[in-house]
Amino acid sequence: MGKKKLRAIDLYSGVGGWSLGLRMAGINVVASYERWGMANETNFKNNRHQAQTVDIRRLSLDELPTDIQIVVGSPPCTQFSYSNRGGNGDIADGLKDIIKFLTIVDYLKPKVWAMENVPRVAEILEQELLPGGCLRKFKHLNLKSHIVNMEEFGLPQKRQRCIAGNFDFELLESYKSATHKCTLGKVIKALAKKKIVDPIYGIEMDRADLRDHVTERALNSEEERINMASKTLHPVYNAMSFPDRLDRSVRTITATCTRVSRESIVIEDPTIPNSYRRLTVRERACLQGFPITFQFYGSSYGHKLRMVGNAVPPLFSYFVGQALQQRAAEKISALSTHAESLRAPVPPAEDASPDKPGAHFPKTRTFRFAIPSLRLKSGVRFDLANVVRKDRVDWAVEFYFGTPKSIQSIDLAALSLSAVLSRIPMAISAQVHSELEKVSQFVCNADIGNMQRVWSHNGVGLTRPFMLLDELDERGSEMVKLLMPYERLTQELVGNVLLDTYGAEAIKLPGLLKLANNAALILAGLIIGATTNAALIKHPQKAAILLARAAA
Ligand SMILES: C[S@@+](CC[C@H](N)C(=O)[O-])C[C@H]1O[C@@H](n2cnc3c(N)ncnc32)[C@H](O)[C@@H]1O
Repeated sequence: MGKKKLRAIDLYSGVGGWSLGLRMAGINVVASYERWGMANETNFKNNRHQAQTVDIRRLSLDELPTDIQIVVGSPPCTQFSYSNRGGNGDIADGLKDIIKFLTIVDYLKPKVWAMENVPRVAEILEQELLPGGCLRKFKHLNLKSHIVNMEEFGLPQKRQRCIAGNFDFELLESYKSATHKCTLGKVIKALAKKKIVDPIYGIEMDRADLRDHVTERALNSEEERINMASKTLHPVYNAMSFPDRLDRSVRTITATCTRVSRESIVIEDPTIPNSYRRLTVRERACLQGFPITFQFYGSSYGHKLRMVGNAVPPLFSYFVGQALQQRAAEKISALSTHAESLRAPVPPAEDASPDKPGAHFPKTRTFRFAIPSLRLKSGVRFDLANVVRKDRVDWAVEFYFGTPKSIQSIDLAALSLSAVLSRIPMAISAQVHSELEKVSQFVCNADIGNMQRVWSHNGVGLTRPFMLLDELDERGSEMVKLLMPYERLTQELVGNVLLDTYGAEAIKLPGLLKLANNAALILAGLIIGATTNAALIKHPQKAAILLARAAA
């Protein structure tokens, strides 16, 4: 007779990432608890256990099953996460769910338990377990926490998480060496075939039976531009590649992502060169370690993205399930042996239509992008931006420098252009003036009066703001080349502009060294920005456009 399976419950269970992994590891998940009905339907249909729709904060302990040897779960991370609330969430509120989770562990007294959350929670747990902390009363549960990168367990995703619990982390770590590396490219390629073989679980399926693999329309040129700029030219965050590299694992799959967001993973469509698209729900699910047979019973595309992004990767929870049962690495069966238990539920989920381009934008839609040739890493940059005031929109080049804690900006309209230009050496004077003339001419001939209308998709016009940005980029790059040999002079002229603006305080400005070390670029930006702004102000259509007109 086989060994009796250990009985487990899954708290804050979502679609059952924990439940599925534990089930594959041979654990009997008898019940799961979650307040989102659609997630429970998904969990129930795929994992065939009782998935209860409840508010766990109000769940009374005597409603829980008895004879439970394992408790797992993922209390919500919204209040702790840096990506959700920029690190400013209500930690006390987030801790209420962790307290409830630990209260349940304390009540059921399972042999082992595991809780997953964002990495930041490791420090919070440590702090709150100290004398006086709100988790001190759970000290006897022997909570230890550990940061894991799920990529090391065969997931094609660099997903860092905190795992807390009272089980053998060393044993869990020992499984890493036997896992196989998978990449974004491998997932994309596998799902593009007629006869699909799951890149992680080896399950076979005809393309016609694969759900949620609806390719969305390629990014249009504007979306492509914004997406690329937010990844490659972000003023503060590290540069990312655009499109995403196929030979690597991906960054964290999130629960939301728009067509233009920095977080969204974008690939070059293998079937249409030079065309870029986001991933399908199924591609994201594979990158999250779900088998291709798993069905997401969400009623909209957004629901499905949330189900996938929120989940604990079942591939990872499979390994935790093994460690919870103290199974030695060599005793873990190959993933392909689980194909039978991973049969798709019937009926399968309906596909949901992806978001379409051409969302509605307010007439006041904001535009702010750095001019690529006139930016340095760490936030020093010249932006082309629209400034929306009550009933008008002004376009301008703006200069930012300093440090993240003390961002400085200079009004380029106040800059004395003639004083700077009078000091430009004869050898390059004609070329410098010619570049500035090109800028003035471009602005003068541009349809500035309708630029906001085009940008906000509220009407037609001849000039898109990215056309102006590209012109400024090109002129900027030429100007930097011209000024580059004049290091001393450019430093002096930049210094003069700072002195004119800040007076004696100029020497105390943050980030001065950066400006001095890149004086040719800064001077190029100052004179191009001042020229652009002057041309915008005296533009025949007037730089300040009444919003009512833009919408007409
Ligand atoms: C990080 S997700 C967990 C995902 C899950 N482990 C999975 O694999 O899909 C947190 C879940 O907690 C649920 N939740 C949040 N507050 C809850 C509450 N008070 N009661 C029950 N569920 C809650 C959310 O709906 C969400 O699905």
